[in-house]
Amino acid sequence: MLKNKKIVLGITGSIAAYKIFELIKFLKNSGALIFPVITKNATYFVTPLSIEIACGNKVLIDMFDSPMSHIDLAKNSDLFVIAPATANFINKYASGIADDLLTTTILAFKGPVVIAPAMNWRMYESPQVQKNIKYLKELGVNFVEPEEGCLACGEEGKGRLAEVNKIFDAIISALTEKDLITENILVTAGPTRQYIDPIRFITNKSSGKMGYAIAKVAKIRGASTTLISGPSNLSPPQVDRFISVETTSDMLQAVMENINEITTLIMSAAPLDFEPEMFFETKIDKESIKSISLKLCPDILKEISKLKNRPFTVGFSAEWGFNINRAKKKLLEKNLDMIVLNDITGKHGGMASDENQVVIIYKKKNRFYQYKTPLLPKEDVASIILSKIKELKFDKHFQ
Ligand SMILES: Cc1cc2nc3c(=O)[nH]c(=O)nc-3n(C[C@H](O)[C@H](O)[C@H](O)COP(=O)(O)O)c2cc1C
Repeated sequence: MLKNKKIVLGITGSIAAYKIFELIKFLKNSGALIFPVITKNATYFVTPLSIEIACGNKVLIDMFDSPMSHIDLAKNSDLFVIAPATANFINKYASGIADDLLTTTILAFKGPVVIAPAMNWRMYESPQVQKNIKYLKELGVNFVEPEEGCLACGEEGKGRLAEVNKIFDAIISALTEKDLITENILVTAGPTRQYIDPIRFITNKSSGKMGYAIAKVAKIRGASTTLISGPSNLSPPQVDRFISVETTSDMLQAVMENINEITTLIMSAAPLDFEPEMFFETKIDKESIKSISLKLCPDILKEISKLKNRPFTVGFSAEWGFNINRAKKKLLEKNLDMIVLNDITGKHGGMASDENQVVIIYKKKNRFYQYKTPLLPKEDVASIILSKIKELKFDKHFQ
C-alpha cells in the first residue's frame, strides 16, 4: 500500500524511541522509502547508526551538515510521521519554531503529517500540550493518541506511545483518498453462536477477518462505518460504531435497528443458518442427550430483501469451491445488488485466513458480470470490493 511512498520519519528525544524499529519494519515491508530525521536529543535514546541501517537511508540530524536538505525533503516527501513526538516537539511545531533540522523541515512541508506523542501523563495533560494538540488538529495534523498504562517513570497514566500498528494505520489513512466520504456503510462480520444449553453452543470457523478488513478500509476511505460482529478474537478496527452480537437473531435485530440512514450494507458475516431445536435452561447431563435436532435460523439477507427502501446490499456466499451458479442463484433469490463468492475449501484463502480470493458477481441490464480477484491480503480484497460498489453506485445502467 505504501509502495515507493517517500516518508520522513522524525524521531525525538523520548524514552519510547526504541519502539520505532518495529514501525520501520512495517513501513519497509509495505514498500515505503524512509528518510529519517532525528533530533539531537533523540540520539541519547537511539543511535543514528542503527536507525540508518534499519531505514536504509542516511540519518539527518544537523541542519548545517547537509544544506538545503530541509527544503529538499519538504518538497519531495509524501508524508511526515513524528514518532515518538516529545512535548517539546509538539509545542515547537504548533508555534512554528524552526530551530533544528526536524522542526525547520516540517514547517516547510505541505503534505499530510502524523504525530504519535509519548510522554509522562503529567506532561501530556498539561494545558500547553493539550492546547497545541487541539490547534494542530485544527490545522489537519493527524494524531495517534497515546495509550494508558504503566509509563517508563513507573507511574500509571495516559502517555505511552500508541501501538505500532495504530501508527501504521494512521499513516495509511493519511495517504488514502477519502473517496467514500458520502457513504454510510454497515458491515457484518464473524460467526454467530447458537446455544444448546447455557454453556454449550454450535458455531463455525469464521474469524471475522474479511468483515473487519472491509470495515477498516471503508473507514480509512472516509465512510461513516458501523461494524456488527459475532464472537471474534480480533480487536475491533477503528470504526464509528462497533456492535457485538452472539446469535443469528441478535445479528438480525442489530442490523434492523441500525439500517436507517445506511447507504450500503455489506453482509460478510457467516451467521449460522441452523440452531438446536431445543434450548436447555440448565447444563444438560451427557447421559440425558443422545442427539440434537436442528431447525433453521432466521435468514438475515432474506429479511433485508423484504424491506421497501433497503440500501445497496452486498451478500457473501461461502461455497465449497467457486460455485458461480449457486452464487448467481443467491443474488437473484435474495434480491442483492452484488454477491461476493468466497471459496471455503481453504485453497484460495477464505475463512480464518489472512488472504482471500473472491469472485464479485452482479447483474447489469439483465446480464451477469463477474470479476475474480487475485489471492491478496484481506484488506486489499476489501478495497477492491469497496471500489466495485462505488463504481456500480455511480453507474447509470446498473439496476
Ligand atoms: C530519560 C529521559 C526520558 C525522556 N522521555 C521523554 C518522553 O517520553 N517524552 C517527552 O516529551 N520528553 C521526554 N524527555 C524530555 C525530552 O528529552 C526533552 O524535553 C528534550 O528537550 C526533547 O528534545 P527534542 O524534542 O528536540 O527531541 C525525556 C528526558 C529524559 C532525560
